[in-house]
Amino acid sequence: MCGIVGYIGMKDARDIILSGLEQLEYRGYDSAGIALFHQQEIKIFKDKGRVSHLRDICDFSFKTGLGIGHTRWATHGEPNHKNSHPHISNSGRFVIVHNGVIENYKKLKIEYLSNYEFYSDTDTEVIVNLIEYFSKSYSGREAIRRTLNELEGSYALLILDKEEPEQLYIAKNKTPLIVGAGESGITIASDVIPLAGHCTTYTSLNDKVFGVVQSKSFQLFDYLGNDLSVQMKKFNINNEDFEKGDFDHFMLKEIHEQPSIIRHLVQEYFDNEKIAIPKKILDCIKSSTKINLVACGTSMYASYMAKYYFEKLCNIPSEVFVASELVYSTPLIVDKPCFIYLSQSGETADSIAVMKKFLAKGFPSIAITNSPNSTMAELATHHLNIFAGKEIAVASTKAYIAQVVTCAILAKALSGQKTNLKNNLNKTAMAIEKILEEKIIIKNLAKQIFTASDVFYIGRGIDYWVCLEAALKLKEISYIHTEAFSSGELKHGSIALIDKDVPVLAICTQEGTNSIVRSNLTETIARGAKGIVIAMESLSDPTDDIILPDVAHYLTPLVSAVVCQLLAYYVAVLKGNDVDKPKNLAKSVTVE
Ligand code: AGP
Ligand code: GLU
Repeated sequence: MCGIVGYIGMKDARDIILSGLEQLEYRGYDSAGIALFHQQEIKIFKDKGRVSHLRDICDFSFKTGLGIGHTRWATHGEPNHKNSHPHISNSGRFVIVHNGVIENYKKLKIEYLSNYEFYSDTDTEVIVNLIEYFSKSYSGREAIRRTLNELEGSYALLILDKEEPEQLYIAKNKTPLIVGAGESGITIASDVIPLAGHCTTYTSLNDKVFGVVQSKSFQLFDYLGNDLSVQMKKFNINNEDFEKGDFDHFMLKEIHEQPSIIRHLVQEYFDNEKIAIPKKILDCIKSSTKINLVACGTSMYASYMAKYYFEKLCNIPSEVFVASELVYSTPLIVDKPCFIYLSQSGETADSIAVMKKFLAKGFPSIAITNSPNSTMAELATHHLNIFAGKEIAVASTKAYIAQVVTCAILAKALSGQKTNLKNNLNKTAMAIEKILEEKIIIKNLAKQIFTASDVFYIGRGIDYWVCLEAALKLKEISYIHTEAFSSGELKHGSIALIDKDVPVLAICTQEGTNSIVRSNLTETIARGAKGIVIAMESLSDPTDDIILPDVAHYLTPLVSAVVCQLLAYYVAVLKGNDVDKPKNLAKSVTVE
């Protein structure tokens, strides 16, 4: 995925676009560029690197009210100057920025563009030259419409036409694009953040929609060219969601938000002691004979906890699937499955592809996301919000906690049992606050492992599922090779990896497995490992490294995960990494 920002109006387009790109850099940041329409010319500044570098190479000697910008997460062509966006058509008439992947770009290049020069390795350059190709016989708008009808794949596009200095074109299919209207002009972006401060209303474009945007209005069309009506929503997003405040990084800020998010979820989903989940969602799940959980990355690890809750509390057989596997394979489907998708962004291409596949087969889908206006939220049969607030750091933290809590609440509602979940969740929020107050212990532990080249997490059952998330957190921001093992599995081969001083962290929060996990840890220490124990207080030994305040046994991931989030954070800081924007990553992977 990438970040796209466009502006047309009375304000300084360059300033709005560059600031917006900085706010969207979490979406992809290997290169950046901007095109500014000034005195009948479209001036392009672009290069490999961050938006801060783009600011350095940008010309600030003129003002303009029209421009488009892009931060890239490369899919076709390495991150370098020539592959950076914006891209320009051969004649220089059209300029484009693109988020997504054009699957048939090679075919289009051969079929239409054999006489065209290409200066980049991207699929995007095919789009802008195809528009030019059609513009030889049609108007700019018609050329764009015809081009869109040829494209297969995902795209959010902003297009400038040198012959139309008072407008810009937009188009959207499968990757998000939002149009915001304000007094001074119109802002278009991949996410709502850049609209803050400039817009009072906004709308999210549906798939296969394109439009023409002027400074005071815009028109949307379908791919036949028919006018589409527009439903504008009130824009009530405040800026502080997008500021780090007193924290050094968004990740640390978002880790600290977790207690309040748990309390907010209690407020949202409890009506006094009764759980208030829409009946249609409960009925949808109750009418199924199996729950298939589909997700990626951290959301997949949260799905393991959801499986635990649905099976233990509701006796509904549940299974977790890697979304990218299900795109190309179909599991044995029992008669009445219900598909539940956990996704922070609601824009993950792998998860969307699976949702479309099984919706087409007539199976109901419930999306549990942090983005109520996202593609998955709109596509699914039902949607449940996790109310985690905007998560900016690429490494997901508060969304994981909110996903686990939301699924615990949903499972309790399905079980119909009397519950002390609300009380247990409030206790858990306090336990996390205690961990945050004593985070210096974790910061000191980070000093013991930040030079390691390999780190292992071990645990069993619930603790193993947290190990999976803990390992992902550590490796994705510290770049240290980290693996999670079910502790009993180590001796079946992987223990060969254990060497002198290799940190092995054992998570021990479950009474039934506490002693065996500690015993498995001892086996690694006997082979030179540096053993570290993260244990629930009631199961702890005086020599343990991190003691977790006691919480309900089925909520322990909410505290053990926070310790692992903080550990990953401090290790990454010690290594001098860009914690919020780790290398090679993007906040939401909107390409397959
Ligand atoms: C989380 O730390 C990762 N950045 C990544 O694994 C993420 O969880 C995954 O890409 C799924 O994203 P989603 O929740 O938005 O679908
Ligand atoms: N596919 C385009 C490219 O590789 C766009 C990638 C993106 O979404 O940033 O340049």
